[in-house]
Amino acid sequence: MKQPDEKKLRLFFAFWPNDAERAAMAAWQPALRELCGGRVMRTDTLHTTLVFLGEVAEHRLQALQLAAREVNCPGFELILTAVHYWGHNHIAYAAPDAVPPHLAELVGELERTLRRHRFHFDARPYKPHVTLLRNAQWSDACLPPMAAVRWQVDDFALVQSLNGEEGARYEVLARFPLQGAA
Ligand code: 2AM
Repeated sequence: MKQPDEKKLRLFFAFWPNDAERAAMAAWQPALRELCGGRVMRTDTLHTTLVFLGEVAEHRLQALQLAAREVNCPGFELILTAVHYWGHNHIAYAAPDAVPPHLAELVGELERTLRRHRFHFDARPYKPHVTLLRNAQWSDACLPPMAAVRWQVDDFALVQSLNGEEGARYEVLARFPLQGAA
């Protein structure tokens, strides 16, 4: 039931890597920072956002989790093959060559399910990425090639973004298995 002055939570759905996968992603960061400067994202925060919801009233949290459980898509491997730079927000990020079909299917199904349950979010073209540096500076030139990171995606997570003293802190609230997960 909606309460006046109810607390809102800043939420998003994401893939959350295991320790080995996040270590492989983090291995790219020192060389990248040498080139681009900026701030290295802490290893424990590395992730790929699926759908960014922004502020959600706390009383909707249970409905949100029930909605996410309706998503029924297979797991798959996400291979991060290169680093790129976005000038509009000054981030350097790792990304796959192309959006794997299973990933497009998952994002589409998650978005449709969330809309059906009356959750609102900006519809933007989906660009999977792992932010490695913030406040970076680079040109349009290609960044040097880096060793590919193979990421076995068996589930997705509901994550809360909290403002900590050292920037955003993320807390995984729930995880939702994909089909075929062990
Ligand atoms: P970013 O790393 O490219 O900034 C938590 O903030 C996560 O949600 C990050 O992965 C961030 O992407 C993403 N995010 C933040 N604001 C967003 C928005 N308005 N639309 C889509 N994704 C957003």
